[in-house]
Amino acid sequence: MSDPFAKDPFTQARRQKGVLACEFGGEAMPMLLRYADVRRAAADHANFSSDVLGRVTIPAEDKIRTFRQLPIESNPPQTQAFRDIVMPIFRRPRAADFKDKVVALVDTLLDNALQAETLEVVSEFALPLQSRAMALLFNMPMTEAEVWIGWGTHAYRVAGRNDATKAAQLIDYISEKLDQAKDAPGDDLFGVLTRATIDGTPLTRDQMTGFAHLAFSGGRDTVINSITEAVRFLALNPGAFDQLRSTPTLIPSAVEELFRVISPISFIGRTCPHASDIHGQPVAAGQRVALGWASANFDETVFPDPQDMRIDRRPNPHLAFGIGAHSCLGSLHARLLLKTVLEKMVARVGQLTVQGEQANCLSFPQFERRVGSSRLEVHMHPLTGSP
Ligand code: HEM
Repeated sequence: MSDPFAKDPFTQARRQKGVLACEFGGEAMPMLLRYADVRRAAADHANFSSDVLGRVTIPAEDKIRTFRQLPIESNPPQTQAFRDIVMPIFRRPRAADFKDKVVALVDTLLDNALQAETLEVVSEFALPLQSRAMALLFNMPMTEAEVWIGWGTHAYRVAGRNDATKAAQLIDYISEKLDQAKDAPGDDLFGVLTRATIDGTPLTRDQMTGFAHLAFSGGRDTVINSITEAVRFLALNPGAFDQLRSTPTLIPSAVEELFRVISPISFIGRTCPHASDIHGQPVAAGQRVALGWASANFDETVFPDPQDMRIDRRPNPHLAFGIGAHSCLGSLHARLLLKTVLEKMVARVGQLTVQGEQANCLSFPQFERRVGSSRLEVHMHPLTGSP
């Protein structure tokens, strides 16, 4: 099956060495490329630590904030106590009424999309859907979603780089919401954080800020890129679109395959407390190593014909949402969104044509990788006979 995605840029290095000497924003960082190595490192917190402020994300964020993002900037066993605090929020997508609300959001956006001559998928579909669904997830008013839409596709980055002004605005926003919650804690994300305790001790203001900061950034461009790439895949692969329409039971495996191939977070950092050597690549004490989720997801020792986008791929043990102690808390939500988009698209959209587009690529001297579209214009024809 033909696919619209960029090819895996790591194939050769993964086979030959298993590690790629990268440089991100002037920081030398070897990237682990093989599935087994990435899984092993994700479980080895003593040698690949998350317990450092601002040094899990790439680029590093120790210059744009003074608090830790939580739970991600911690190591087990502390991580679980942090995860337990926000777990009730992240389990909400399991509830039937939550699913119904997501269906209604997608339906409303498709009503408009099907009327439009041209739909710009990123700004007119994926961004509003992500923001409104996040308002449902965090149990906040829909009016907040309109504020978040104004932030664009990332809460504090522009073109992949940290933006000091946007970063400061997000911190101000969180601060204001925490102040409001302190006076009158409700049942939303901020109320949960305000009431939370660990061993009887309330969270510090920095800890609350750190939880909210990750919640507003982790699931934004990742979800927007996934939805946009899924629409593009259907447009460029009418055969797969028809197959999903005739066999909707394939939608869950198509969703997993989309996440594998898109791998919206290509890599993430860990700090190595001790000097070591990784496949012949020296690592100094305190240096960071990148876990290459995207490369691992194309490892042919685990995924036969990894460059093929197979909507019926099973098993599909991809690492798009990470693995282990820090595995993605928003994965239920992201999966529900993509599944609902596919279900509604096959039920309501007939022919889908791309009218214009611009790729969104991560570009470094060592490799270039497509992660989404910065612009995708399509025309959606209603499915004849659809309601
Ligand atoms: C397609 C969408 C998404 C992808 C590909 C993705 C990917 C990931 C990955 C790879 C990790 C592991 C990080 C690590 O091991 O250091 C992670 C963690 C996390 N993600 Fe996501 N994510 C997505 C959506 C979301 C959403 C929608 C939210 C929230 C609204 C979210 C919140 C989080 C949080 C809070 C963590 C940290 C968990 C912990 O440290 O225990 N993510 N995500």
